[in-house]
Amino acid sequence: MVFMEKGSLPIFLAPMAGVTDSIFRTICKEKGADILTTEFVSADGIMHRNARTRGYVEFTSMERPMGVQLFGADPDRLAEAARQVIDWVNPDFIDINFGCPATKVVCRNGGSSLLRDCPLLERVAEAVVRACAPLPVTAKIRIGWDDNSINAVQTARLLEESGIQRIAVHGRTKAQGYSGEANWEVIASVASAVTVPVIGNGDIADGATALSRLRTGVSGLMIGRAAMTNPWIFTEVKAALNGIPYAPPSLEMKWELVRMHCAQEVAAKESERFAMQGMRSRLMAYTRGMPAARPLRASLSMVGSLMELDGIIEGHLREIPEETPLPML
Ligand SMILES: Cc1cc2nc3c(=O)[nH]c(=O)nc-3n(C[C@H](O)[C@H](O)[C@H](O)COP(=O)(O)O)c2cc1C
Repeated sequence: MVFMEKGSLPIFLAPMAGVTDSIFRTICKEKGADILTTEFVSADGIMHRNARTRGYVEFTSMERPMGVQLFGADPDRLAEAARQVIDWVNPDFIDINFGCPATKVVCRNGGSSLLRDCPLLERVAEAVVRACAPLPVTAKIRIGWDDNSINAVQTARLLEESGIQRIAVHGRTKAQGYSGEANWEVIASVASAVTVPVIGNGDIADGATALSRLRTGVSGLMIGRAAMTNPWIFTEVKAALNGIPYAPPSLEMKWELVRMHCAQEVAAKESERFAMQGMRSRLMAYTRGMPAARPLRASLSMVGSLMELDGIIEGHLREIPEETPLPML
């Protein structure tokens, strides 16, 4: 599946800043995610070619098909950044972020702020498409700025006319942030308004929900936060789509994955303590919904080494009988 095969229903890992680095993307790929994207990278950062930006855009060949997501508001700078990324890492596609609600991005007119400025959004999309051809350019949008300006259908039509080849729609407005529920009715209207594939995104956390979202006519599904707690979500969703039974992982399997993620993080960073401190928020996500979570999370919030982690895991497994089923998250 280089880009999107006809008739296939790919499952995407949603780009998440500070989360979807190469290590986590590879974990999700192994669990069944079909298409991966970097977290959003600033066009200006690319132009300065600093080491941090290099870390954001690099990926391994097993992550393909792989996209690099860019944000910015200046059409020429974004186009130049996209060209540089192509020279730099040769991704399978470039994705443009038109959805980020973060103030530091919006106040520089990037991300979701372009949903309020359709002429600029169109110029950005056209410039990047022209600069990248023949490499496909995709976009990720929210359904609008706020409840009074839901314009995803209009935005998607403009993007399609600009040569964007696939559109992921997160079913929330910028004003919503991550609160409330994703509006899949608007996602369905977008899917029926354009001919390019539309990927639905928002609140998919189990196989049954994924299956029910297919009724919206989307060509693929994108999963974000649920993967942080449960990377097996991709296996589960695929089982549901293919009508085959799914056996959730045991507690041991889950800890094995968490341990492996931490060990890889430690190997990639200069200091074990620094790496493990950085993993604390990820450990909070991984342990959400686990049995006896409260004392467990209190210990993990102070973990500073792999040895300490091993002790915490052993203690938790000793305390929790093996048969305790993991809640479906
Ligand atoms: C921690 C975090 C970071 C995110 N960073 C990005 C990003 O860099 N680019 C982007 O397009 N969306 C970003 N998002 C939004 C997600 O891609 C996705 O649209 C959103 O989480 C809704 O999907 P979900 O309900 O499956 O999590 C981020 C979300 C979270 C929670």
